[in-house]
Amino acid sequence: MPPQNLPSRPRRLRRTEAVRRLVRETSLTPRQLVLPLFLIEGEDRAEPIDAMPGCSRFSIDRAIGTAEQAMTLGVRAFALFPAVSSEKKSPAGDEGLREDNLLCRAVIAMRQALPDACLITDIALDPYSNFGHDGIVSADGRVLNDETVDVLTRMTQLHAQVGADFVAPSDMMDGRVGAIRRALDGAGYTETGIISYAAKYASAFYGPFREALDSAPIDAPNVPRHKKTYQMDPANTREALREAALDEAEGADILLVKPGLPYLDIITRLRERTTLPIAAYQVSGEYAMIKSAAELGRLDETAAMVESLTALARAGADVIFTYFALEYAVWYRANPG
Ligand code: PBG
Repeated sequence: MPPQNLPSRPRRLRRTEAVRRLVRETSLTPRQLVLPLFLIEGEDRAEPIDAMPGCSRFSIDRAIGTAEQAMTLGVRAFALFPAVSSEKKSPAGDEGLREDNLLCRAVIAMRQALPDACLITDIALDPYSNFGHDGIVSADGRVLNDETVDVLTRMTQLHAQVGADFVAPSDMMDGRVGAIRRALDGAGYTETGIISYAAKYASAFYGPFREALDSAPIDAPNVPRHKKTYQMDPANTREALREAALDEAEGADILLVKPGLPYLDIITRLRERTTLPIAAYQVSGEYAMIKSAAELGRLDETAAMVESLTALARAGADVIFTYFALEYAVWYRANPG
Protein backbone atom coordinates (compact mmCIF):
# COMPACT_ATOMS: atom_id res chain seq x y z
CA MET A 1 0.00 0.00 0.00
CA PRO A 2 1.42 3.45 -0.89
CA PRO A 3 1.96 5.68 2.14
CA GLN A 4 -0.75 8.15 2.97
CA ASN A 5 0.27 11.71 2.31
CA LEU A 6 0.16 12.89 5.93
CA PRO A 7 1.84 16.23 6.65
CA SER A 8 1.97 15.45 10.31
CA ARG A 9 2.86 12.12 11.92
CA PRO A 10 3.05 12.63 15.71
CA ARG A 11 4.22 9.04 16.13
CA ARG A 12 7.64 10.04 14.71
CA LEU A 13 8.30 11.65 18.11
CA ARG A 14 7.46 8.42 19.91
CA ARG A 15 9.49 6.05 17.78
CA THR A 16 12.50 5.29 20.01
CA GLU A 17 13.33 5.76 23.66
CA ALA A 18 15.99 8.32 22.68
CA VAL A 19 13.47 10.39 20.73
CA ARG A 20 10.82 10.08 23.42
CA ARG A 21 13.27 11.30 26.02
CA LEU A 22 14.40 14.14 23.80
CA VAL A 23 10.91 15.62 23.56
CA ARG A 24 9.62 14.73 27.02
CA GLU A 25 7.95 17.79 28.51
CA THR A 26 8.10 17.02 32.21
CA SER A 27 10.88 15.67 34.38
CA LEU A 28 10.53 15.10 38.06
CA THR A 29 13.75 14.98 40.02
CA PRO A 30 14.30 13.76 43.59
CA ARG A 31 15.25 17.28 44.70
CA GLN A 32 11.56 18.21 44.32
CA LEU A 33 10.31 15.50 46.66
CA VAL A 34 9.41 15.68 50.33
CA LEU A 35 9.48 12.45 52.33
CA PRO A 36 6.95 12.35 55.19
CA LEU A 37 8.33 10.59 58.29
CA PHE A 38 6.22 9.22 61.13
CA LEU A 39 7.93 9.37 64.52
CA ILE A 40 7.62 7.28 67.67
CA GLU A 41 9.32 7.29 71.05
CA GLY A 42 12.17 4.93 71.84
CA GLU A 43 15.40 3.86 70.24
CA ASP A 44 16.14 1.71 67.25
CA ARG A 45 12.46 1.15 66.61
CA ALA A 46 10.68 0.77 63.28
CA GLU A 47 7.00 -0.15 63.50
CA PRO A 48 5.50 -1.10 60.14
CA ILE A 49 2.21 0.66 59.35
CA ASP A 50 -0.30 -1.95 58.21
CA ALA A 51 -2.34 0.41 56.09
CA MET A 52 0.75 1.76 54.33
CA PRO A 53 2.88 -1.17 53.15
CA GLY A 54 6.54 -0.17 53.05
CA CYS A 55 6.12 2.67 55.57
CA SER A 56 7.04 2.57 59.24
CA ARG A 57 6.92 4.73 62.31
CA PHE A 58 10.50 5.40 63.31
CA SER A 59 12.21 6.30 66.54
CA ILE A 60 14.25 9.48 66.13
CA ASP A 61 17.54 7.65 65.52
CA ARG A 62 15.96 5.47 62.83
CA ALA A 63 14.26 8.50 61.25
CA ILE A 64 17.69 10.11 61.00
CA GLY A 65 19.05 6.96 59.34
CA THR A 66 16.22 6.98 56.81
CA ALA A 67 16.69 10.68 56.12
CA GLU A 68 20.44 10.16 55.63
CA GLN A 69 19.73 7.46 53.10
CA ALA A 70 17.22 9.73 51.34
CA MET A 71 19.76 12.54 51.17
CA THR A 72 22.31 10.35 49.44
CA LEU A 73 19.61 9.77 46.80
CA GLY A 74 18.90 13.49 46.40
CA VAL A 75 15.80 13.81 48.60
CA ARG A 76 16.60 16.54 51.09
CA ALA A 77 13.24 17.59 52.52
CA PHE A 78 11.30 15.83 55.26
CA ALA A 79 7.83 16.39 56.71
CA LEU A 80 7.67 15.21 60.30
CA PHE A 81 4.59 13.70 61.94
CA PRO A 82 4.73 12.51 65.56
CA ALA A 83 2.65 9.52 66.68
CA VAL A 84 1.69 10.56 70.18
CA SER A 85 0.63 8.00 72.77
CA SER A 86 -2.99 8.26 73.85
CA GLU A 87 -2.23 9.18 77.45
CA LYS A 88 -0.49 12.33 76.21
CA LYS A 89 -3.47 13.46 74.16
CA SER A 90 -5.91 16.06 75.49
CA PRO A 91 -8.81 18.16 74.18
CA ALA A 92 -6.65 21.26 73.63
CA GLY A 93 -3.61 19.30 72.46
CA ASP A 94 -1.33 20.64 75.23
CA GLU A 95 1.37 18.11 74.39
CA GLY A 96 1.90 19.99 71.14
CA LEU A 97 3.17 22.98 73.11
CA ARG A 98 5.65 21.11 75.30
CA GLU A 99 9.22 22.02 74.52
CA ASP A 100 10.46 18.47 75.04
CA ASN A 101 7.79 16.66 73.04
CA LEU A 102 8.70 14.02 70.46
CA LEU A 103 8.48 16.37 67.50
CA CYS A 104 10.71 19.03 69.06
CA ARG A 105 13.32 16.45 70.07
CA ALA A 106 13.23 15.04 66.55
CA VAL A 107 13.76 18.43 64.92
CA ILE A 108 16.69 19.20 67.22
CA ALA A 109 18.32 15.82 66.59
CA MET A 110 17.76 15.89 62.84
CA ARG A 111 18.95 19.46 62.54
CA GLN A 112 22.15 18.47 64.28
CA ALA A 113 22.72 15.20 62.42
CA LEU A 114 21.68 16.54 59.01
CA PRO A 115 22.40 20.27 58.88
CA ASP A 116 21.66 20.36 55.15
CA ALA A 117 18.22 18.79 55.40
CA CYS A 118 15.07 20.86 54.93
CA LEU A 119 12.80 20.14 57.90
CA ILE A 120 9.07 20.74 57.64
CA THR A 121 6.77 20.46 60.65
CA ASP A 122 3.02 20.00 60.56
CA ILE A 123 0.90 22.58 62.33
CA ALA A 124 -2.44 21.19 63.53
CA LEU A 125 -3.76 19.69 66.74
CA ASP A 126 -4.78 16.24 65.50
CA PRO A 127 -1.69 14.27 66.64
CA TYR A 128 -2.20 15.69 70.13
CA SER A 129 -6.02 15.83 70.34
CA ASN A 130 -7.86 12.96 71.98
CA PHE A 131 -10.84 13.85 69.78
CA GLY A 132 -8.84 13.46 66.57
CA HIS A 133 -9.52 16.98 65.34
CA ASP A 134 -7.17 19.58 63.95
CA GLY A 135 -8.63 22.20 66.27
CA ILE A 136 -10.18 22.64 69.69
CA VAL A 137 -13.66 21.10 69.97
CA SER A 138 -16.20 23.04 72.06
CA ALA A 139 -18.57 21.38 74.52
CA ASP A 140 -21.35 21.70 71.97
CA GLY A 141 -19.31 19.99 69.26
CA ARG A 142 -17.92 22.84 67.16
CA VAL A 143 -14.31 23.12 66.06
CA LEU A 144 -13.34 26.56 67.35
CA ASN A 145 -11.45 28.76 64.91
CA ASP A 146 -9.78 31.63 66.72
CA GLU A 147 -9.02 29.66 69.88
CA THR A 148 -7.33 27.03 67.70
CA VAL A 149 -5.33 29.62 65.77
CA ASP A 150 -4.04 30.99 69.07
CA VAL A 151 -2.66 27.56 70.06
CA LEU A 152 -1.26 26.97 66.57
CA THR A 153 0.69 30.24 66.58
CA ARG A 154 2.37 29.17 69.80
CA MET A 155 3.12 25.74 68.36
CA THR A 156 4.70 27.47 65.38
CA GLN A 157 7.03 29.56 67.53
CA LEU A 158 8.15 26.38 69.26
CA HIS A 159 8.89 24.63 65.96
CA ALA A 160 10.83 27.67 64.72
CA GLN A 161 12.76 27.76 67.97
CA VAL A 162 13.90 24.15 67.66
CA GLY A 163 14.97 24.67 64.05
CA ALA A 164 12.22 23.91 61.53
CA ASP A 165 12.86 25.43 58.10
CA PHE A 166 9.17 25.51 57.29
CA VAL A 167 6.03 25.14 59.30
CA ALA A 168 3.13 23.62 57.39
CA PRO A 169 -0.30 24.52 58.78
CA SER A 170 -2.58 21.66 57.70
CA ASP A 171 -5.51 22.64 59.90
CA MET A 172 -7.56 24.85 57.53
CA MET A 173 -8.61 27.34 60.21
CA ASP A 174 -9.40 30.82 58.89
CA GLY A 175 -6.69 33.44 59.27
CA ARG A 176 -4.04 31.08 60.54
CA VAL A 177 -1.39 31.88 57.96
CA GLY A 178 -1.44 35.59 58.82
CA ALA A 179 -1.48 34.88 62.54
CA ILE A 180 1.42 32.45 62.18
CA ARG A 181 3.45 34.91 60.07
CA ARG A 182 2.93 37.65 62.67
CA ALA A 183 3.79 35.32 65.54
CA LEU A 184 6.98 34.14 63.83
CA ASP A 185 8.08 37.65 62.91
CA GLY A 186 7.18 38.95 66.37
CA ALA A 187 9.46 36.35 67.93
CA GLY A 188 12.29 37.12 65.50
CA TYR A 189 11.82 34.07 63.26
CA THR A 190 11.62 36.02 60.03
CA GLU A 191 13.48 33.29 58.16
CA THR A 192 11.12 30.45 59.04
CA GLY A 193 8.87 29.80 56.06
CA ILE A 194 5.23 28.77 55.75
CA ILE A 195 4.01 25.99 53.48
CA SER A 196 0.29 26.46 53.77
CA TYR A 197 -2.12 23.67 53.04
CA ALA A 198 -4.12 26.19 51.04
CA ALA A 199 -6.55 23.79 49.39
CA LYS A 200 -7.00 20.82 51.65
CA TYR A 201 -10.07 18.78 50.91
CA ALA A 202 -12.17 16.71 53.32
CA SER A 203 -10.96 13.53 51.67
CA ALA A 204 -11.49 9.82 52.11
CA PHE A 205 -7.88 9.34 51.04
CA TYR A 206 -6.46 10.29 54.46
CA GLY A 207 -7.62 7.02 56.01
CA PRO A 208 -4.26 5.21 56.20
CA PHE A 209 -2.53 8.30 57.65
CA ARG A 210 -5.09 8.47 60.45
CA GLU A 211 -4.37 4.84 61.15
CA ALA A 212 -0.62 5.56 61.21
CA LEU A 213 -1.08 8.25 63.86
CA ASP A 214 -4.23 6.82 65.45
CA SER A 215 -5.70 10.27 64.82
CA ALA A 216 -9.15 9.71 63.29
CA PRO A 217 -12.02 11.72 64.81
CA ILE A 218 -13.42 9.62 67.65
CA ASP A 219 -16.98 8.39 68.01
CA ALA A 220 -18.25 10.32 71.02
CA PRO A 221 -21.14 12.64 71.81
CA ASN A 222 -20.49 16.21 70.66
CA VAL A 223 -17.43 15.30 68.63
CA PRO A 224 -17.93 15.71 64.87
CA ARG A 225 -17.20 12.45 63.02
CA HIS A 226 -15.77 14.32 60.04
CA LYS A 227 -13.68 17.39 59.25
CA LYS A 228 -16.05 18.98 56.75
CA THR A 229 -16.51 22.20 58.73
CA TYR A 230 -12.90 23.12 58.10
CA GLN A 231 -11.55 20.96 55.25
CA MET A 232 -12.94 21.73 51.83
CA ASP A 233 -15.77 20.15 49.86
CA PRO A 234 -14.28 17.98 47.05
CA ALA A 235 -16.87 19.48 44.71
CA ASN A 236 -15.40 22.99 44.88
CA THR A 237 -12.90 24.82 42.72
CA ARG A 238 -13.55 28.52 43.30
CA GLU A 239 -13.23 27.97 47.02
CA ALA A 240 -9.69 26.65 46.47
CA LEU A 241 -8.77 29.78 44.54
CA ARG A 242 -10.16 31.92 47.34
CA GLU A 243 -8.30 29.98 50.04
CA ALA A 244 -5.06 30.19 48.08
CA ALA A 245 -5.42 33.92 47.50
CA LEU A 246 -6.01 34.47 51.21
CA ASP A 247 -3.01 32.37 52.21
CA GLU A 248 -0.77 34.15 49.73
CA ALA A 249 -1.92 37.55 50.96
CA GLU A 250 -1.38 36.44 54.55
CA GLY A 251 2.23 35.53 53.85
CA ALA A 252 2.46 31.90 52.72
CA ASP A 253 5.72 31.02 50.93
CA ILE A 254 4.50 27.83 49.25
CA LEU A 255 0.88 26.81 48.56
CA LEU A 256 -0.06 23.15 48.92
CA VAL A 257 -2.91 21.18 47.35
CA LYS A 258 -4.04 17.97 49.01
CA PRO A 259 -4.78 15.20 48.04
CA GLY A 260 -2.87 15.09 44.77
CA LEU A 261 -4.11 12.95 41.90
CA PRO A 262 -7.87 13.54 42.33
CA TYR A 263 -7.17 17.31 42.35
CA LEU A 264 -4.90 17.86 39.34
CA ASP A 265 -7.25 20.54 38.04
CA ILE A 266 -6.85 22.49 41.26
CA ILE A 267 -3.05 22.33 40.99
CA THR A 268 -3.22 23.63 37.43
CA ARG A 269 -5.64 26.42 38.28
CA LEU A 270 -3.46 27.60 41.16
CA ARG A 271 -0.33 27.34 39.01
CA GLU A 272 -1.91 29.78 36.56
CA ARG A 273 -2.78 32.28 39.26
CA THR A 274 0.23 32.54 41.51
CA THR A 275 3.95 32.99 41.17
CA LEU A 276 4.55 31.11 44.42
CA PRO A 277 5.79 27.53 44.30
CA ILE A 278 2.96 24.99 44.36
CA ALA A 279 3.24 21.78 46.34
CA ALA A 280 1.05 18.71 45.96
CA TYR A 281 0.60 16.02 48.60
CA GLN A 282 0.22 12.49 47.25
CA VAL A 283 -1.57 11.32 50.38
CA SER A 284 -1.62 8.04 52.25
CA GLY A 285 -4.69 6.68 50.46
CA GLU A 286 -3.20 7.37 47.03
CA TYR A 287 -0.04 5.57 48.13
CA ALA A 288 -1.96 2.67 49.65
CA MET A 289 -4.07 2.22 46.52
CA ILE A 290 -1.01 1.71 44.37
CA LYS A 291 0.74 -0.48 46.94
CA SER A 292 -2.30 -2.66 47.57
CA ALA A 293 -3.12 -3.14 43.90
CA ALA A 294 0.53 -3.99 43.22
CA GLU A 295 0.56 -6.52 46.06
CA LEU A 296 -2.40 -8.23 44.42
CA GLY A 297 -0.54 -8.24 41.12
CA ARG A 298 -3.02 -5.87 39.52
CA LEU A 299 -0.66 -2.98 38.84
CA ASP A 300 2.99 -2.55 38.01
CA GLU A 301 4.00 -0.64 41.13
CA THR A 302 7.01 1.20 39.73
CA ALA A 303 5.22 2.26 36.55
CA ALA A 304 2.15 3.43 38.49
CA MET A 305 4.34 5.35 40.93
CA VAL A 306 6.29 7.12 38.18
CA GLU A 307 3.15 7.89 36.20
CA SER A 308 1.22 9.31 39.16
CA LEU A 309 4.12 11.47 40.35
CA THR A 310 4.87 12.69 36.84
CA ALA A 311 1.19 13.63 36.43
CA LEU A 312 1.39 15.81 39.53
CA ALA A 313 4.46 17.58 38.14
CA ARG A 314 2.83 17.94 34.71
CA ALA A 315 -0.24 19.52 36.31
CA GLY A 316 2.02 22.18 37.81
CA ALA A 317 3.36 20.97 41.14
CA ASP A 318 6.91 22.19 41.82
CA VAL A 319 7.20 20.20 45.03
CA ILE A 320 5.61 16.83 45.82
CA PHE A 321 5.08 15.29 49.24
CA THR A 322 5.06 11.52 48.72
CA TYR A 323 5.60 8.32 50.68
CA PHE A 324 7.23 7.02 47.49
CA ALA A 325 10.08 9.57 47.73
CA LEU A 326 12.77 6.98 48.45
CA GLU A 327 11.43 4.48 45.95
CA TYR A 328 11.19 7.18 43.28
CA ALA A 329 14.73 8.37 44.00
CA VAL A 330 16.07 4.82 43.64
CA TRP A 331 14.21 4.47 40.35
CA TYR A 332 15.46 7.88 39.20
CA ARG A 333 19.07 6.96 39.81
CA ALA A 334 18.68 4.16 37.25
CA ASN A 335 16.49 6.31 34.95
CA PRO A 336 17.71 9.90 35.24
CA GLY A 337 16.27 12.74 33.21
C1 PBG B 1 -3.77 16.42 59.73
C2 PBG B 1 -3.15 15.83 58.53
C3 PBG B 1 -3.70 14.81 57.78
C4 PBG B 1 -2.80 14.50 56.79
C5 PBG B 1 -1.69 15.36 56.93
N1 PBG B 1 -1.94 16.20 58.02
C6 PBG B 1 -4.96 14.03 57.98
C7 PBG B 1 -6.22 14.74 58.17
O1 PBG B 1 -6.37 15.91 57.82
O2 PBG B 1 -7.10 14.12 58.73
C8 PBG B 1 -3.03 13.44 55.77
C9 PBG B 1 -1.86 12.97 55.01
C10 PBG B 1 -2.06 11.70 54.32
O3 PBG B 1 -3.17 11.13 54.25
O4 PBG B 1 -1.06 11.19 53.80
N2 PBG B 1 -3.56 17.73 60.02
